[in-house]
Amino acid sequence: MCRHLGSNRPPIVILTGAGISAESGLSTFRGDGGLWAGHRVEDVASPSAFERDPDLVYEFYNLRRRNLLSIDVKPNAAHKALERLQSEWSERVTIITQNVDDLHERAGSCNVIHMHGELLKIRHLDSGEVRSWNDDCDGSTLDGRWRPHIVWFGEAILEAAAISEALMSAGLFLCIGTAGQVYPAAGFVHEVAGPSVEFNIQGTAISKSFSAAVLGSAAEHFPIFVDALLK
Ligand code: APR
Repeated sequence: MCRHLGSNRPPIVILTGAGISAESGLSTFRGDGGLWAGHRVEDVASPSAFERDPDLVYEFYNLRRRNLLSIDVKPNAAHKALERLQSEWSERVTIITQNVDDLHERAGSCNVIHMHGELLKIRHLDSGEVRSWNDDCDGSTLDGRWRPHIVWFGEAILEAAAISEALMSAGLFLCIGTAGQVYPAAGFVHEVAGPSVEFNIQGTAISKSFSAAVLGSAAEHFPIFVDALLK
């Protein structure tokens, strides 16, 4: 449950990336065994790929959707700690996620901005209508004019205005499990006035922009950080 009691504590923004879901059994994008390993990004995640070979693109996201819905994928201790921070921190805590999974929501979080879309939604190619969707989607779904509700390379991020507002009003920025290679998310650290902490198993392209870093598993270290913050 989200609540703001009002205090001297600063609003917090947390940016999450594929690394926070890695310990829930979802592959990250880059690195060994990464999601893109078997596919060139431009073959599966761009408007031109969808025009050229829609079946390949549909299938790529169908596999990911089925995987997300498999019984053994569930929120881990880092997702749960974020939910606890949202419940117990007396000011606004906004999660901006690059992830298209629903693990923050399954952990009970609210105020989650899905800047790169959501795997469990589809969007109408003509009207732009978005609807929840847990099944496979392809060129024969409904009236045959639906695509994954995913922001592809070259497309604008979702909820840009809400993101700007959250970053401008935040006094603490936390970043969990992102390689810092995709903009605009990789630049958010520069938009928050106040300290920033990066959580990652290794240094990233943007590590030097943070005030501090916690190296190691997010599921192991982030709950400890939340405990300390809430004391
Ligand atoms: N705990 C913390 N960090 C981890 C963990 C873990 N258990 N496992 C992996 N990481 C880190 C990796 O070290 C890496 O820096 O998570 C990061 C994952 O990086 P990417 O796979 O590149 O994912 P992300 O940064 O979220 O990608 C951004 O790129 O392809 C696009 O749209 C896609 O949203 C995605 C965007």
